Amino acid sequence: MAGERHWPLTLLGGGSNLILGEYLTGLVVQPTFAAWWLEQGRDDTVRVHVEAGMDWHALVMALVKRELWGIENLALIPGHCGAAPIQNIGAYGVELAEVLESVHLVFLEDGRKAVLSVADCAFGYRDSIFKGELEGRVAITKLVLRLSRQPRPRLDYGDLAKRVGPSPSAREVAEAVSQVRREKLPDPLKLGNAGSFFKNPLVEAAKAQALLSRYPHMPHFPQQDGSVKLAAGWLIDQCELKGHREGAFGIHERQALVLVHHGGGDAHGLLAFANAIAKRVQQRFGVSLEREPRLVGVADTA
Ligand code: EPU
Repeated sequence: MAGERHWPLTLLGGGSNLILGEYLTGLVVQPTFAAWWLEQGRDDTVRVHVEAGMDWHALVMALVKRELWGIENLALIPGHCGAAPIQNIGAYGVELAEVLESVHLVFLEDGRKAVLSVADCAFGYRDSIFKGELEGRVAITKLVLRLSRQPRPRLDYGDLAKRVGPSPSAREVAEAVSQVRREKLPDPLKLGNAGSFFKNPLVEAAKAQALLSRYPHMPHFPQQDGSVKLAAGWLIDQCELKGHREGAFGIHERQALVLVHHGGGDAHGLLAFANAIAKRVQQRFGVSLEREPRLVGVADTA
C-alpha cells in the first residue's frame, strides 16, 4: 500500500534502540507475528526458528528453560527478535552473530523474499549489512538460530563467574546476567533510554599505548586486527559526567554510557546533549565517540 501511494515506510521492532522524531510521515509498520519453534539437529544442536515480532528476552528465557545454550548471556536485552541482527546485539562476551544461522527477509521495493546466511550479513561490532547497503530496504521476517544442548557457559566477562555456581544451568547464567543488567542499566519502561548511547571506540594500538602511559588503569581490549577497543563509559566517567543532568537529559548515575530522558525533551535536545559529551571526551582523550542507536524521523546533526 505504501509503495502504491508513494508513502515513506518506517518499520519498527520494539523501538528500544531508536531515537524518534516528533512525527513520522507515511506508514509505520510493527511486525507482531511472533511464533517460534524448534527443529532437532542431527548432532547435539537445535535450530530455533523465530518470527520477527517475538520479544527477545521472552525467547531467551523460553530457551534456557529447555536447557539450550548459546543466548543465555543475551538475557534482558530489550526489543524484538527481528531487530536483533540490525545492530548484532551483544553483551557479556557473546554476540548474536555467533549463534545465528540465517535471516529471512522481504525486499520492500518488490516484495521479493530472500534468506541471508550469517556470512552474507557482514556482521561486526554493533554493525551489519542492515545498517549499511540494506538499510531501509528490507523487512526482517524470521531468524534461525543454532543452539547447543551441551553446556557451554561463557563466564569470562566481568564478575559473571562469581555470580553463579561451578556448573551453572543456562537459566542460572541468564538470571545472573539479568541481575547485572538490573543493577547497572535503567529500565526503559521507567526511565527513557536507548541502552548504550555510544559504541565503544576502536583506536590504533599506538593511540591506546599513549593513553595507557597516562592512564594505566584504563580498561582496554586488544582486537584481532591489532586495534584496541576502549570503554566509552569509562572515558565519559573520567570526565566526571556520571549522573550529570541538563534539563530533560542526563547521564545515568550507574553507567555513564547510557543517556537518560527525564521527560519533556525532544530528539534535537538529546543530540545536542550527546554532542557536548562527545566533545568533552574528544578534548580530554582525543577519542571520537560514535552514536549507537538509530535515528528515525530526525535529521542527523552529529
Ligand atoms: N566503566 C566505567 N564507568 C562507567 C561505565 C563503565 O568506568 O560509568 C568501565 C567499567 O568499569 C568497565 C568498562 O568501563 O571496566 C566496561 O563497562 P561495562 O562492562 O559496564 O560495559 P560497557 O562497555 O560500558 C558494553 C555494551 C553493553 C553491554 C555491556 C556488557 C556497548 C556499546 N555496550 O557496555 O550493551 O550490556 O558491554 O557486555 O558495547 C547496549 O548496547 O545498549 C548495551 C547496554
